[in-house]
Amino acid sequence: MGPWTSRPADTAAGRQASTQRPSSRYGSGRQGPYGGAANVSDSTGQAPEERITSHIAHNARVWNYWLGGKDHYPVDEQVGDQVTSMYPSIGEVARADRAFLGRVVSLLAGEAEIRQFLDIGTGLPTVENTHEVAQRIAPDARIVYVDNDPIVLTHARALLTSSPEGATSYVDADAHEPDAILRAAAATLDFGRPVAVMMLGILNFILDTDEARAIVRRLMDAVPSGSYLVITHPTLELGGEGNAEAMKFWNENATPPITARSKAEVESFLEGLELLEPGIVSCARWRADAAAEEAPVVAQFGVVARKP
Ligand SMILES: C[S@@+](CC[C@H](N)C(=O)[O-])C[C@H]1O[C@@H](n2cnc3c(N)ncnc32)[C@H](O)[C@@H]1O
Repeated sequence: MGPWTSRPADTAAGRQASTQRPSSRYGSGRQGPYGGAANVSDSTGQAPEERITSHIAHNARVWNYWLGGKDHYPVDEQVGDQVTSMYPSIGEVARADRAFLGRVVSLLAGEAEIRQFLDIGTGLPTVENTHEVAQRIAPDARIVYVDNDPIVLTHARALLTSSPEGATSYVDADAHEPDAILRAAAATLDFGRPVAVMMLGILNFILDTDEARAIVRRLMDAVPSGSYLVITHPTLELGGEGNAEAMKFWNENATPPITARSKAEVESFLEGLELLEPGIVSCARWRADAAAEEAPVVAQFGVVARKP
């Protein structure tokens, strides 16, 4: 193991991972199509706790690090710092993305009277999670969180509570499998009523644009008129050219692999939907309030669209 690599957790996944040949100094490299040894789990039936590995940086934990959280391992900090040195605005991207989430959920739960949220790619619980923002405005709001990172699941179980009038549930599923997500979410959400499908910082992990488009279409076909789609997505536009090298580094040293997309590509996810003003812009500028107006523009698109 190199200087920036942590010892694998003493779990079944960790023990298996520890026998694999390191491919970089930041960990043991990816083994499968969606990421590293940590993802050995889904097909093995391992408990989430056993799927957690601490020796290769994972997006949910590094995102938590950039947001100033505490739920990460040394390797996540090391990779997070390296990315920051290559792309200094990444912390601002993470904060702007979360602030956008807060503004959008407030708008949807308030003015738009949405009472159901399907939040795919939840991330580790942080401040102002979707259910907290929504249920503050509408205590009867029902929220389903979806993520495939085992550490998100273990934290979510402990931290994602609900108002007595509403509901919060968590689905351990892969965004590549929208049918499985819809089946599981139906236990909490009524797909006969409008749903806000939240895909913040997640489509960038679906590397094939046609597949990403098909996933969005499948999800939006399952919800009725009056539903919403919310997306944030990293880009090399909006001054984000510097992110190209950082993403290459990420893809060689961390998991899951990521891609940036152009505005035109993001627009292609919104076919048949009505874009809310101001359309596809930096998430830092999407209906920015006074506080957000002060924040820098970041290379992360934010968009909200309504199903007519
Ligand atoms: C950048 S974080 C975004 C978190 C949150 N949505 C936000 O905007 O702050 C991306 C999240 O997507 C999850 N993720 C990545 N690939 C996934 C997949 N194929 N299926 C489900 N979740 C995935 C990661 O585990 C991580 O928690």
